[in-house]
Amino acid sequence: MSVSPFLFWLLVALTILFAAAFAATLSFALRQRVRMKLRPNFGKPPVPHVAIDRWNDIFKSTGLGPNRDSEIAFIGQSGALASINDTETWVLGALAKKARRIFEFGTATGRTTYVLARNAPGDAKIDTLTYFDDGTGDAEFNADDPDAEKWKQIALGESRYDKFYYEDTPVAHKVAQHFGDSAKFDEAPYEGKVDLIFVDGAHSYSYVKSDSAKALRMVAPGGFVLWHDYSPRCPGVYKALNELGRELPLAHLKGTTLVAYRKPA
Ligand SMILES: C[S@@+](CC[C@H](N)C(=O)[O-])C[C@H]1O[C@@H](n2cnc3c(N)ncnc32)[C@H](O)[C@@H]1O
Repeated sequence: MSVSPFLFWLLVALTILFAAAFAATLSFALRQRVRMKLRPNFGKPPVPHVAIDRWNDIFKSTGLGPNRDSEIAFIGQSGALASINDTETWVLGALAKKARRIFEFGTATGRTTYVLARNAPGDAKIDTLTYFDDGTGDAEFNADDPDAEKWKQIALGESRYDKFYYEDTPVAHKVAQHFGDSAKFDEAPYEGKVDLIFVDGAHSYSYVKSDSAKALRMVAPGGFVLWHDYSPRCPGVYKALNELGRELPLAHLKGTTLVAYRKPA
């Protein structure tokens, strides 16, 4: 079969065009990942993706479904503002069942605080810290963070709650509400004492670094630290945890944006 020279050169030109477009797209994507310091292009990711039932035995499947150690009192995400999804709620609620001291960075509406309090033992205490934006601008937002102004405005937008979901409920007595800038929060009284810590405060890189350092000092032997919003859509969280994942065994729980760490007992 003979191919006309025109068709031949057309096919050659199209092949070159597609190859060039493919190479340009690939190179852009790889450079983008490196620029954002999100994760290496090759080799093991710093925060491996782990199925929830493989991460912790309480979520292990019986073959018919999750085992009942993970059963919780549950309130769904629908209608909640700035909160965690249903799988994330399940994970935190189930971990709370064995936690006597719990600390949350970032209360927002207090829906997650309520789930934690509702599932924690009767004598548990939940400390939750939030910022209330009264216009004084006394929080230490770092102007050198990537997209600093955008993440500051997001944090302030979520800092307008002074009434909370858990109030006037039968578990309200378990909750101690703290107001203030997490960067200025003194974690010394909590050092090595907290069984479950949820880091979900300001999402800029500097705050995630500072809140994480405090959480890691506060966590008790055998206790858990969980972070929310590990996703390229929150580059400050993503970058800080990818860096931490090079020092500590972190796990990104599948089906969630949670990253989890368990301190050795
Ligand atoms: C994403 S919301 C938390 C959602 C909540 N954990 C939940 O699951 O429903 C972020 C919270 O972090 C708080 N926050 C933002 N900047 C803060 C800061 N500098 N210090 C302390 N809390 C801060 C906000 O006030 C808000 O309560």
